[in-house]
Amino acid sequence: MDDSSNLTMKTAVITGVAGQDGAYLTRMLLDKGYQVHGTVRPGGSTDLWRLDSLGVRNHPHLHVLQHDLCSLVDSLALMDRLQPQEVYHLAAQSSVARSFEEPHATVNGIQQGTLNLLEAIRKVTPTTRFFEAGTSEIFSTKHSALCTELTAFHPRNPYALAKLSTYWATVNYRESFNVFGSVGILFNHESPLRDPRFVTRKITSSAARIALGEASVLELGNLAARRDWGYAGDYVEGIWRILQADQPDDFVLATQRSASVRDFVRLAFAGAGIGLAFQGQAEHEVAVVTDIVDGVADQVPCLKLGQVVVRVNPDFYRPIETGPSIGDPSKARLALGWQVSTSLEELCKLMVSADIARVKSGG
Ligand code: GDD
Repeated sequence: MDDSSNLTMKTAVITGVAGQDGAYLTRMLLDKGYQVHGTVRPGGSTDLWRLDSLGVRNHPHLHVLQHDLCSLVDSLALMDRLQPQEVYHLAAQSSVARSFEEPHATVNGIQQGTLNLLEAIRKVTPTTRFFEAGTSEIFSTKHSALCTELTAFHPRNPYALAKLSTYWATVNYRESFNVFGSVGILFNHESPLRDPRFVTRKITSSAARIALGEASVLELGNLAARRDWGYAGDYVEGIWRILQADQPDDFVLATQRSASVRDFVRLAFAGAGIGLAFQGQAEHEVAVVTDIVDGVADQVPCLKLGQVVVRVNPDFYRPIETGPSIGDPSKARLALGWQVSTSLEELCKLMVSADIARVKSGG
């Protein structure tokens, strides 16, 4: 592409470009012809394997740069230098479990990052559109029906507490300073690029290793926890659409279907060729093998019917559990034309297949 066409390209900043959503969004924006400036934390140690695996790491219109989200000076300079049309703020300490262990770092990091970007936009590039990655964790967990943009909030962990404050910060800058700031209230979204500390990828990577004889048992926390799980590739499409709307607004992105961790385990192991049945209660619950497809039986002759391959370890319980939660994405569907294209079964199959391929190739 020559320099003159660069002038007509949209410029976007994606914070947290090395993460799951950052990588999928980068690929999507590059495909749409954007110049993408993706930020990583200072220090130079960020692994860009997700951008590699999507084949965009060396794209001529992707520029990866270090940026300290906790520094207002850095954010002011970033906006001044790049003058982006759109900022997608995805970077955060996003593990609920870890937020219980590191509440200060989680809350301060999340709040400062959003505030600094909003303030920089207000002062330096007031027409820049700003997307805040919100979370379904802000909702009242006592609410068992579908959650919409109007559902009562009740954050129950430090991560959710911080994310509720950045939700309101975005709304405040919109109302007070006319900043085009929108929040995507994102329910869980997963993919083969998910970090294994989150439960879905922990399950699919273990199912793959057990089916290939490289592990024998998977330990989990609360098997009854329910989540509304979608595919991250669908969610970045919704995120982009949120910033293309005529007006800034907040949208729930969800699949409108919930499943338990137990359901996800069953699906993942079935995808790896192992049938399971659950037995026992609470911390004594286990999953035993009820069926083994021929290919797996040949590969792992030591895997036997009746063998325990999943058990509960209370160390993975949380101080308080959120959910059940299901999101209602009607507003996004009606206003943005967004809908999910990948079912839970397809998602699970996609993740297990990718993990089997990784284990086979020694990855
Ligand atoms: N991580 C993990 N590990 N979770 C487990 C385990 C385990 O061994 N066993 C059971 N779980 C349960 C958790 O208790 C929780 O109820 C559920 O699995 C999902 O946990 P995570 O995958 O860690 O995700 P999360 O729902 O807490 O948070 C994710 O989704 C949010 C959107 O609703 C994260 O991506 C957040 O950043 C995001 O905002």
